[in-house]
Amino acid sequence: MLPDKVKQHFNAAAQAEWERLDVNEYFRLIYRLHLDFIKEELSTKPRVLDAGSGPGRYALEFAKRGCAVTLCDVSDGELMFARGKFRESGLTADGFIQADLRDLSAFSDNAFDLTVCYGAPLSYITENREKAVAELVRVTRRGGTVAVSVNNTWGILRSLLCKADEDFFANGDYWHINEVIETGDCPSFESVQFGGEAAPEKHFFQPDELTELLKNGGLTNIGLGAVPCLCSGNREQYNKLAEDPIAKAQIEALELKCYRDKNMVGFGEFLLAKGVKV
Ligand SMILES: C[S@@+](CC[C@H](N)C(=O)[O-])C[C@H]1O[C@@H](n2cnc3c(N)ncnc32)[C@H](O)[C@@H]1O
Repeated sequence: MLPDKVKQHFNAAAQAEWERLDVNEYFRLIYRLHLDFIKEELSTKPRVLDAGSGPGRYALEFAKRGCAVTLCDVSDGELMFARGKFRESGLTADGFIQADLRDLSAFSDNAFDLTVCYGAPLSYITENREKAVAELVRVTRRGGTVAVSVNNTWGILRSLLCKADEDFFANGDYWHINEVIETGDCPSFESVQFGGEAAPEKHFFQPDELTELLKNGGLTNIGLGAVPCLCSGNREQYNKLAEDPIAKAQIEALELKCYRDKNMVGFGEFLLAKGVKV
């Protein structure tokens, strides 16, 4: 997808993007697991680049934890929204920079201890994704961490199964399932709506593919995660079960135990990965 189309799409979606991670228990679980994945790195109060920050929900949390945080996104609308949220909460950021992840020339080499690219910005980059990874790595210091989350190929099918959308599985042309599974590339279809418009073109990843992309970009010690893991594909059921605080705590403890298990990482709605810059 061209950056202008992505920008246009997300400029109109800032409020919805802000609400997404707090809309129900399932999405709050997604949010907490993303934070758990980098909790050691955050505990050292690093200089963080939130790359593809959107409305800034993660960036705000990083700032609350005492990190020096810079936000960057291709969408000026998302950045403006994030600026407002920082102002409201009395927290500060080092910058709100509009940039395409494939050109982070606004930042010098090695400028950050931790670079976070959460909520699938890399899935919206359908051309020259390698350049985006190279840029995320370039702006991170040696020994620093780059953490990303992307949309997962099998995980997305699991999550669609739970929606009982008859059209999706009964109509082969609806989403070209076999083609998407084969290539990971999902074109933009008028029939597939996202916030009232044609869903943007996207790439879905497999664990080996993401590992390779990050390794080739200069990262080592790659670790993966599936978010959510057990609950992926069981959105409504989890929301119901989580009404009981004891059940909610038990399920969350199980999620925390399994979401980084190498036998499970291909099944999450989001695929997480992090690695250390060589
Ligand atoms: C689904 S939102 C996730 C936002 C936030 N990280 C979160 O998890 O809540 C994806 C974000 O990636 C941004 N994005 C997509 N492609 C991008 C690109 N090529 N360069 C910079 N940002 C991009 C979009 O503008 C959008 O704000």
